[in-house]
Amino acid sequence: MRVGVLGSGIVGRTIAGKVASLDHEVVLGTRDVRLTTERPAGPNDAESFADWHGANAAVIVAPYAEAASHGEIVVHATNGAGALEALARAGQDNLDDKILVDVSNPLDFSAGFPPTLAVSNTDSLGEQIQRTFPRTRVVKTLNTVQAAVMVDPASVGGGDHHVFVSGDDQGAKDRVAELLRDWFGWRNVIDLGDITTSRGVEMYLPLWVRVMSAINTPVFNIKIAR
Ligand SMILES: NC(=O)c1ccc[n+]([C@@H]2O[C@H](COP(=O)([O-])OP(=O)(O)OC[C@H]3O[C@@H](n4cnc5c(N)ncnc54)[C@H](OP(=O)(O)O)[C@@H]3O)[C@@H](O)[C@H]2O)c1
Repeated sequence: MRVGVLGSGIVGRTIAGKVASLDHEVVLGTRDVRLTTERPAGPNDAESFADWHGANAAVIVAPYAEAASHGEIVVHATNGAGALEALARAGQDNLDDKILVDVSNPLDFSAGFPPTLAVSNTDSLGEQIQRTFPRTRVVKTLNTVQAAVMVDPASVGGGDHHVFVSGDDQGAKDRVAELLRDWFGWRNVIDLGDITTSRGVEMYLPLWVRVMSAINTPVFNIKIAR
């Protein structure tokens, strides 16, 4: 399958690398290919982009529009503050009728840690993206877990925990739930409902960051006990 991944951060790289390792054709999108490929390791990046790319050479790195146009399905993993700009660069035409797997969060670090939410309560980033790209089938998912857990749920408690999907298009949500299982091994996917249910999973982030601080690791998830 041809997959476009928008985002060169830890999430974009982790998803792109994993999906490419399953023999899918992956193009990772970024604003400026040269700047990104020269990016050194930093506080949020254990390794330089070049080191990551060396270990994941099958992934092609290209501008956002090329990654979006390449993908039969497109993963959106850019910073919440730049998400609409990144998707505008990707281009409506390149996203028309496609499933957009949106893993972004509207985190605002402008006042430091803990972050606040740039949008909440009566709206969400998932809804903003769906409104801006009405012909795209947006499915919000995976935003409630850290990048490494997204692609390896079994690393937490053997995988006995939950992830959510939110979106207006039932077929798109069903397809994404299938891909979450086939690509990454997610067994427990809860369909929350339409795209307005993105509000809840995005508003979970203030709790997520506090749990991370309290237990001193980002490698955890929630399990819905009945
Ligand atoms: N880190 C996690 O474990 C985790 C877990 C769940 C959800 N998320 C969410 O997933 C998304 C990606 O997170 P991340 O940690 O991988 O990286 P990030 O630092 O939040 O985002 C990096 C990406 O955002 C792009 N970007 C930033 N500002 C932009 C702008 N103004 N216009 C266009 N693109 C812009 C960067 O573009 P360039 O490529 O051009 O530099 C890069 O591709 C975020 O929304 C985050 O909240 C993260």
